[in-house]
Amino acid sequence: MSTNECRSIVILGASGNLALTKLLPSLYTLYTSGAMPQHYAITGYARTAMTNEAFRELVESHLKDAVEETQLEPNYVREFLSSIHYCSGGYDSVEDFTKLHSYLDDVIAKDFPSAPTTLYYLSIPPSVFEPVIHSLRECGAVEKGDSNKSVIVEKPFGYDTESAKALNKTLYETFDESQIYRIDHYLGKEAIMNLMVMRFANIIFEPVWNRNYIESVTVSWEENKHIGSRGGYFDKAGIIRDVIQNHLLQILALVAMEEPSDYDSESIMTEKIKAVKSIGKISLDDCILGQYTAGVCAGKAVIGYTDEDSVPDESKRETFALLKCEINNSRWSGVPFYLRAGKALPKNSTEIIIQFKDVPGSIFTSPHHANKLVIKVQPDAGIKFFITNKVPGKGMVLKDVKLDFSYHDGFNIAMPGAYERLILDAIQGDKTLFICYEELIDSWEIFTPILEKIDAGKATVYPYAAGTSGPDQVKELFN
Ligand code: BG6
Repeated sequence: MSTNECRSIVILGASGNLALTKLLPSLYTLYTSGAMPQHYAITGYARTAMTNEAFRELVESHLKDAVEETQLEPNYVREFLSSIHYCSGGYDSVEDFTKLHSYLDDVIAKDFPSAPTTLYYLSIPPSVFEPVIHSLRECGAVEKGDSNKSVIVEKPFGYDTESAKALNKTLYETFDESQIYRIDHYLGKEAIMNLMVMRFANIIFEPVWNRNYIESVTVSWEENKHIGSRGGYFDKAGIIRDVIQNHLLQILALVAMEEPSDYDSESIMTEKIKAVKSIGKISLDDCILGQYTAGVCAGKAVIGYTDEDSVPDESKRETFALLKCEINNSRWSGVPFYLRAGKALPKNSTEIIIQFKDVPGSIFTSPHHANKLVIKVQPDAGIKFFITNKVPGKGMVLKDVKLDFSYHDGFNIAMPGAYERLILDAIQGDKTLFICYEELIDSWEIFTPILEKIDAGKATVYPYAAGTSGPDQVKELFN
């Protein structure tokens, strides 16, 4: 039996929201689809004291919310829960981590025919990151360079360039790069994974995928939720750190990069890094920032951002940002790339809009628009291509029509969750959809100059009513 078939998965921060609503349900789905290794055990660790039974009940109650009812077959649920264990302790106590370690040894001795590889998932607040890494090392659970131990690290990977370097220094004291999986769950979304397929497995896109044919690229991310109880975290971060520096920049890199020499993690990483390095630093002149005031979101009245209990009254934190960036290379020079994201906007939607140029010297007098390709990431993932067509009948009247592909109609299968895909990749040791150190630091360098100014209160933050599309001033940058 190969060790690949024995996996011990340890979730640090197991009683938190991410673990209960995403990670454990994803592991359940992997289990029911037969994708889990032959022998596996999941051990949760968190500060809250709880018995194994109480933790299993907690997990079960969250499975009911997160997984389709039809997937909750009682035998599967029972089997899955029986592979879950729980151990409580402090994050900065080497003694408690030593207990965790010996607890894991017991689980392993009982459940595994041979020594498993262990994957630690850090689903913990940034404030305890350093003590957790330290404790893991000091208790002897992990050793730098040991290929049988690896770690998944969740964002935020730092706060700016310097803190990201410091955080990484901490990681490197215990793990080397080959053991580290920095996760950005957007890279596990189907429509994002399809970007490379769309570009490099179809002949029609690459010849026009450049400055000669493309007028602009927009990556737009909207959420119709307000901040609510997340203000403690969000007010220190803002929308640029929350989604633009990571999720949106990852999308941009996949849209802009050159074709990798192979479909493997190293070749893809090489091209993504080159694309990210070509992005010019953004200045405040290239940004429109906004903060929502009271309004109506998804049919419900919403209080203004600074009226949230968890947000200071005087906060100037941005809940909306439109940034314009340039990619300084021969493919993209002169093409604006817009990154747009906001909370408390009219809808939940993530899309990539490739706006093509007008046909030069059109022979038609009837007005028509340039082609547009819209890649819908969520909800209702799909691809829409707007082309010009003759309206049937007299004369020569032109009209924009839409070629519309939806994943739902095209494949008629449930879209797998992003965490499911990425956790499985990490279990199987595949780093293709994870972020390496160099790319991470390069991505912080793009945003750190404006973040410093925003943090220092030197940026203008315009108000917009919750439920609207952001501040009116976006028109100054974006047309
Ligand atoms: C997280 C952000 O990374 O992504 C949240 O911290 C955001 O603010 C979330 O709501 C969005 O993820 P998804 O998969 O729901 O689009």
